[in-house]
Amino acid sequence: MTPSSDLDSQKRQAALKATEYVHDGMVVGLGTGTTAKHLILALGERVRAGLKIRAVPTSHDTADLARRSGIPLIESDNAWMIDVAIDGADQVDPHFNLVKGGGGALLKEKIVAAAAKRFVVMVDHTKLVPTLGGSFPLPIEVVPFGWGSTALHIERVSGGSAVLRERNGQAFQTEAGHVIVDLHLPKIDDPARLEIELNQIPGIVETGLFIGRTSILIVGHAQGVDVTPAAET
Ligand code: A5P
Repeated sequence: MTPSSDLDSQKRQAALKATEYVHDGMVVGLGTGTTAKHLILALGERVRAGLKIRAVPTSHDTADLARRSGIPLIESDNAWMIDVAIDGADQVDPHFNLVKGGGGALLKEKIVAAAAKRFVVMVDHTKLVPTLGGSFPLPIEVVPFGWGSTALHIERVSGGSAVLRERNGQAFQTEAGHVIVDLHLPKIDDPARLEIELNQIPGIVETGLFIGRTSILIVGHAQGVDVTPAAET
């Protein structure tokens, strides 16, 4: 197993590479998580050195760190013109489809990724998987009202096991006031189809499946970073 300090260094290398996609005048979508923290710190340094950008954060944690790093934020929710969104992921398959939401920020992350001209994903090599699912459950953001019935519906549709995420003995609450159901499946053979099926279920706000959204994948590994543009489909 790779020591966690090595993994953190791989995340940092991937994040540093991702900053190369950020240029003067851009509006940047800032992801959430440990890899995104490296990105924000590195962009903060460049801002202090004169880079002119504005950013849309995908969580309160990201917004706080961006402010502390001197990155100007767009506070309005009017339509953003995001040039590039940059974020981490929990799993990446060979088609660059993702599972996200381990930190519970999947809803804002997906809104920002969908609003961006380009979506750059940065991960350490352990996030690469042959098939989504298995070792990492799929986070699904659900309205609290009737969440138990929604979870049963999710299980019927997917054949998996849906578990309410808890923190300190309480239901984990997202920034939008929803709960998260983590869906355990041995593997997700057809993620695009699963996303369509899950989106039919009343009570689901958003799933952590990011299908066909990645523009560029940056992977940190022991020998350096690999940068791969997503294949045109
Ligand atoms: C946050 O909800 C997630 O989608 C993160 O982007 C994802 O969990 C990756 O996090 P790390 O960079 O901490 O691995």
